[in-house]
Amino acid sequence: MRDTKYNPKSASPKKAPQKQVGARGHSSDNRRRTLDRVISKAGLGSRTEARSWIGAGRVIVNGHKVQSPDAWVDPEIDRITVDGRPLRAKEKVYLLLYKPKGYLTTYKDPEGRPTVYDLLEDQQDWIFPVGRLDQDTTGLLIMTNDTEFGNFITSPESKVAKTYLVKASLLLTAEQLDQLRQGLMLSDGMTSPAIVHHIRNSERYTFFEITITEGRNRQVRRMVEALGAKVLKLVRTRIGPIEIGKLEIGKHRALTNREIGMLVK
Ligand code: URA
Repeated sequence: MRDTKYNPKSASPKKAPQKQVGARGHSSDNRRRTLDRVISKAGLGSRTEARSWIGAGRVIVNGHKVQSPDAWVDPEIDRITVDGRPLRAKEKVYLLLYKPKGYLTTYKDPEGRPTVYDLLEDQQDWIFPVGRLDQDTTGLLIMTNDTEFGNFITSPESKVAKTYLVKASLLLTAEQLDQLRQGLMLSDGMTSPAIVHHIRNSERYTFFEITITEGRNRQVRRMVEALGAKVLKLVRTRIGPIEIGKLEIGKHRALTNREIGMLVK
């Protein structure tokens, strides 16, 4: 049987699962499939064959024999074996996208606004954004199907630096920029120290670069708002050692192995 790949935009709504045997949790909802389908998609045989193997007790999920072909599993997380042999691991995909203004980083928008998936229509694998950028923020966004990698990059403990260029709505003083550096009290607690470089002032605005290692919701905007100003423009220019370079707005490229290695160091 041909191993067709999953395209998130063309996928039909999922049937309600009969039984959950594998991973639970919101983050894996998009990936969960029935066990027979997962085995078939791994290229082992048809769905009918997969159903008969499952029925015959030849399939183990996370150490337990599962005999229902309609059991719901997450192929990224659940360990599935057929006759003791693990399913082939799916090839990992790591993309770097230059997100334009106006695009959401969600998969679907009930209001029909454009999402980053509209920029990735050539992409056959199921991938998810590593962290979020607000609709009006532009710049670097990593997309991957590697959950472990994604969790590492977004975890505050990993301290992966993210750098942003900011245009603030007021002329900020040196003391205010120092407040950004030292940490500010936001509704969800103090921010960790940040690196801030003042770039220039125009008549009314301040342009600066800020590097933070947390990834709280709307963090940079909220930090600037805590100073009584607003962010008029926000561009993420760097994630760890990865820079925008020659990437054009709205375009994406694969991360190199070297870049992936540098990110998880
Ligand atoms: N901080 C923000 O406020 N918004 C983003 O999109 C990213 C970081």
